[in-house]
Amino acid sequence: MSVSAPRPPDPLTPEHLVDPWPNYEILRDHHPIVWHEPTQSWLISRYEHIRPLLRDQTRWSTEHMQDQLGLALGDAPTMTAMDGKQHSARRSLVSPFLFTGGLDLFTPTIERRAKALLEPVFAREREAVAAGTRERGRLDFVTEFSSVYPVDIMADMMGLPGRDYGLLREWYNAFITFVGNIAGDPVLIERGLKAKQGFGEYILPLIAERRSGDGDDFISRLCRAEVEGDRMDDEDIRSFLALMLLAGGETTDHQLAALLHALVQHPDQLQALADDRSLMDDAMAEGMRYCAIVQFIQRTAREDVDIDGTVVPAGGKITLMLAAGNRDPRRFEDPDRFDIHRTDHATSRAFTGNADHLGFGGGRHVCLGMQLSKREVETALNHLLDNAADLRLADGYRAEHEGFFVRSLTSLDLTYTPR
Ligand code: HEM
Repeated sequence: MSVSAPRPPDPLTPEHLVDPWPNYEILRDHHPIVWHEPTQSWLISRYEHIRPLLRDQTRWSTEHMQDQLGLALGDAPTMTAMDGKQHSARRSLVSPFLFTGGLDLFTPTIERRAKALLEPVFAREREAVAAGTRERGRLDFVTEFSSVYPVDIMADMMGLPGRDYGLLREWYNAFITFVGNIAGDPVLIERGLKAKQGFGEYILPLIAERRSGDGDDFISRLCRAEVEGDRMDDEDIRSFLALMLLAGGETTDHQLAALLHALVQHPDQLQALADDRSLMDDAMAEGMRYCAIVQFIQRTAREDVDIDGTVVPAGGKITLMLAAGNRDPRRFEDPDRFDIHRTDHATSRAFTGNADHLGFGGGRHVCLGMQLSKREVETALNHLLDNAADLRLADGYRAEHEGFFVRSLTSLDLTYTPR
């Protein structure tokens, strides 16, 4: 470190929540691998370090995940905390339902949920504009849509009765606040533990019931899934469903809002997308780079590892700053520019394990729900663009973010011309 180098910024401060990008630049330029006391880990912020580290499964593990998640999700370990053969076997069991053909079966579900949530808003606003109550249609995209949409899709995929969606949303919110409870608020801990119990009492009898049936829903299919004699028992399925809720709800919710926010701030690109939907994949790929909501993920060293001159001892933790790596100018040209026409990353790979962006992680634990989230995002955006022209940020709207781990917009107030 040179004498004039700025001190390493702390990515767990309120200032960081407001604007993390200058901090990431300081980290990348002056402290690419640096010890961070609050997380008891080394922060790693350059793309060139993060990408290969994610793919080095021999020397890094995710065993710490069970301590972080197990308390809320269930006692059976989920795949996030597994390694080696056990992890591959578990992924092989569930992957077929979340990629290509298996996922196609849930496409009608996704479309149904997008419509069920957005249609009443569009109808309400069309009426208000026609009656002259408002000049333009309004929509708080986060409150009225994205915060509910992916959780409702999960409930639908699981084949739960509509009356229970509210319960699922409640448990989901409790899981999220439990996992994000950096300050250790006892009320949130209590709520998370209650949700764990409530979800277990609700879902275990349902899993038992579906074991004997031939249903087409996600739970029934998990009950029947078998690869080379390996199957999931009821507790495994319960923990996995809770993980899906957590990993798939909050993420798609905020990624969708972040991408739409970037689009409305770039009206020329939004218009280009509205006019030519073949740009949808490019827009989503750029969103996964420019405004990837998962800020960091962690790994634990199985042995002493030398990362570019810094030795992390066996048992030591690293924090891979995905969002910082995604804006690394050593890898992406003019990285703070949102550009759906970008040519320095491949759209065709953006939703695969070989993506150029870091938004889904990488390597063995790369996001299992990337294709599901892609379908959710494109379905929602298409439906929105079909019904709302000239989308803009509402007058007086100011973006506010929360979440150190998953960076999320607290609201997204939009106006538009109803179509
Ligand atoms: C845009 C939305 C999403 C983002 C940004 C996202 C991000 C991520 C990231 C960064 C990881 C890697 C974690 C690590 O390596 O430690 C991950 C893993 C995972 N994601 Fe997603 N995710 C999204 C949507 C979903 C959805 C919809 C599901 C629902 C099934 C899901 C399920 C999972 C699971 C189960 C894992 C763990 C995989 C493993 O450990 O092998 N994700 N996700």
